[in-house]
Amino acid sequence: MNKQLRRPVIAGNWKMNKTPAETSVLINEIKPLVKDAQCGVVVCVPYTNLQAALEATAGTDIKVGAENCHWAKSGAFTGEISAEMIKSLGVAYVIIAHRERRHYSGETDLTVRDRTRAALDAGLTVILCVGELLWEREQNITMEVIGKQVKIALSGVSADELKRIIIAYEPVWAIGTGLTATAEQADEVNGAIRSLAASLFTQADADRLVIQYGGSMNAKNAGELLSMPNIDGGLIGGASLNADDFSAIVKAAN
Ligand code: PGA
Repeated sequence: MNKQLRRPVIAGNWKMNKTPAETSVLINEIKPLVKDAQCGVVVCVPYTNLQAALEATAGTDIKVGAENCHWAKSGAFTGEISAEMIKSLGVAYVIIAHRERRHYSGETDLTVRDRTRAALDAGLTVILCVGELLWEREQNITMEVIGKQVKIALSGVSADELKRIIIAYEPVWAIGTGLTATAEQADEVNGAIRSLAASLFTQADADRLVIQYGGSMNAKNAGELLSMPNIDGGLIGGASLNADDFSAIVKAAN
């Protein structure tokens, strides 16, 4: 399934955890454990920790990401951070549309599209999250839900810009719950996302698209999930806060 065309990416999503000092400590623990990684390794940290993460990862292959960005370049948006501000620090990645932002912060498909546009314009690589609720899976509308999220987020994205998009499939019912999609369930959705990308762009573009799985991925289940033909890495929440667990997932992706 052309999996060799894609380099898997393991990204930690630290959410609202760690101070700058704790960030340096955790990254310094992770560094020696992932130094031979064949896959991409990214740590996405709170805005207040970006500088500490950049300093701690300097001279390594570990990339730093933010967990969100605003859609506007600048202006009267008290408390917000623009994509250009993030990029100007030297940060390479940004997570957009995480379920917790859709749920707690009123994120919609349209604001996701606009944030994606801003991030791409600023030169960032986007980790774009999509996923269905439990009742949506039970109603057999998983792909309708995900198809809508993907199509709206990618509207206006060029084939060239698609190279700076990673899609993270995160079934909402699996995030932070300890419930993991089976490898087959996750691969089925990732494969459907790839087919959708082929219809929106070209098959060659879709074959290059990195599509992660996220949702209670851990050191134990990562190997099976990552062996699937359409799963190109993971977006890791809880397990990314522990250097041994995170590095074990990175090793599973190698
Ligand atoms: P989890 O979180 O690994 O703790 O389930 C994943 C995510 O929210 O990105």
